[in-house]
Amino acid sequence: MELKGKRIVLGLTGGVACYKAAELCRALGKQGASVQVVMTEAATHFIGAVTMQALSGQPVYLDQWDARMANNMAHIDLTRNADAILIAPCSADFMRKLAHGAADDLLSLLCVARPRHVPLHVAPAMNVEMWENPATQRNVAQLLEDGVKLFGPGCGSQACGETGLGRMLEAEELVEELIASFQHKVLAGRRVLITAGPTFEPIDPVRGITNLSSGKMGYALARAAREAGAEVTLVSGPVSLPTPHGVRRIDVLTAQQMHDAVMAGVEGQHVFIGVAAVADWRVANASDQKIKKTADGAPPQLEFAQNADILAAVAGTVSLSGWPYCVGFAAESEQLEQYGAAKREKKGIPLLVGNIGHQTFGQDDNTVILFDENGHTVLERADKLTLARQLVSEIAKRIEQRSLLT
Ligand code: C5P
Repeated sequence: MELKGKRIVLGLTGGVACYKAAELCRALGKQGASVQVVMTEAATHFIGAVTMQALSGQPVYLDQWDARMANNMAHIDLTRNADAILIAPCSADFMRKLAHGAADDLLSLLCVARPRHVPLHVAPAMNVEMWENPATQRNVAQLLEDGVKLFGPGCGSQACGETGLGRMLEAEELVEELIASFQHKVLAGRRVLITAGPTFEPIDPVRGITNLSSGKMGYALARAAREAGAEVTLVSGPVSLPTPHGVRRIDVLTAQQMHDAVMAGVEGQHVFIGVAAVADWRVANASDQKIKKTADGAPPQLEFAQNADILAAVAGTVSLSGWPYCVGFAAESEQLEQYGAAKREKKGIPLLVGNIGHQTFGQDDNTVILFDENGHTVLERADKLTLARQLVSEIAKRIEQRSLLT
């Protein structure tokens, strides 16, 4: 229920993507939002007002002169209590209207009439040529200058049969964007590199050694950092989680691949967070062919070699300016307070997040202890996204102090 109590005006303009607006309306409701739908006349050619009314549970408004508004001031009444206006789909023509302050239909009128504190977000939906047309791009630039936030557009195949930029984002992506819009932008302008998930160390082409890390905490942190305005790169071991919207993801399998991907991308990063449960050892004599059982039943003799410590390698690149700010995770099975503080010192990093491994791997919630130079702080048990947001704000606080010092 990430949007609990939020009042959203959902505006629909003419476009095939109106079919996604139905799903979006439902998804917003599922997140606890109350949704007031307003449609342009063009939108009604693509989806019926009755459908949107049923999905939102509220009367749909199409017309400034709607007799259901006793005072004939739909443009005022519908926006005064709103927490945000989201136009999805937003056609090229509607972007033109917004960019020029047009107010000749209810939806454009209420956008112009909205109180200054009510944010306006648009999810463009149009053919690639229309999106790339210089006139559209002029309107986009104007909207951005006016403080309107664009959600998307995405890239891919389009209803007209062409392919390219201009697709409306999917309903879940739009919901993620809307949720993110309500978060504080404490990492605006920062670049954040995160490792997540387990690694997989091959024994032979069909077998390997891995661990129980689900990647949930690392993925939650990637999402929270992006919500906070950061540009996020996620280097991920094998997990079955969807990539948080707007996060660049690089998939790897082994600790060595994770190390190489991190070291290739670490330059210019402001924050590095090592959440991955990296295998300490790899099989040094991994076989190119599947290992067969032997007649005498003797097991294969595996030899191990130690993997590079990625976090230590990144900490070793920290420049005089102090970037990247390195954050480590430690999964212990006991005596977290002593081990955590000692591990932070040993790793030579400013912040270490400790948890009890078997109480977090695969779980949806967790409790963690933050260790820094001033001691330790407990973050109470919460779901991983809530914890991730708290961690992001703790990290932001610390790098803010650091920027002031350097
Ligand atoms: O020493 P330990 O494995 O407990 O340290 C955990 C921290 O170090 C985590 O942040 C983990 O992502 C990181 N790590 C790493 N490379 C390794 C082992 C651990 O980056 N080879």
